Amino acid sequence: MKEITITTQFKVYESIQELPNDIQDLMKQAVEVRKNAYAPYSKFRVGVAIFLDNGKIVLGSNQENAAYPSGLCAERVAIFYAGAVYPEAKILKMAITAASDTNQTTAPIPPCGSCRQSIAEYEIKQENPIEIYFMGEIGAIYKSDSLKNLLPFMFDKKFL
Ligand code: THU
Repeated sequence: MKEITITTQFKVYESIQELPNDIQDLMKQAVEVRKNAYAPYSKFRVGVAIFLDNGKIVLGSNQENAAYPSGLCAERVAIFYAGAVYPEAKILKMAITAASDTNQTTAPIPPCGSCRQSIAEYEIKQENPIEIYFMGEIGAIYKSDSLKNLLPFMFDKKFL
């Protein structure tokens, strides 16, 4: 028997003001689109802004459904839109923010497992890492240089 260790790394920004200017702008758009979340059941709103290599910004917010599993997370709304409308574009940067209507979220809120798997598909397809920034409503922002830090032991097409 032997053990293996997989390390993962994040940068921590204390506030939006500490972010590079382009990311501040991206995060502000994510905060703005968070308002469009359709979240009558969870009261938990997530906003996402994606920057593509063609200069376009694609936005998304979570969309819930009375049949709960039929709803979709903000990250996948945005990334599937990007894939559907700009199939040739590379996804360079992604800003994510989540806020609850019932209590203030102060910790960075990462994408769920299903969203990580979906983002991974595009990162592998485009052969280019995706920078991912995520935050709560207030407080620190975490940055990952690649989806790989969020899903280190990922399942992908090479196993098929
Ligand atoms: N949600 C997202 O939009 N992204 C995530 O990564 C985690 C969860 C949404 C789904 C649901 O509408 C609400 O947040 C509560 O889970």
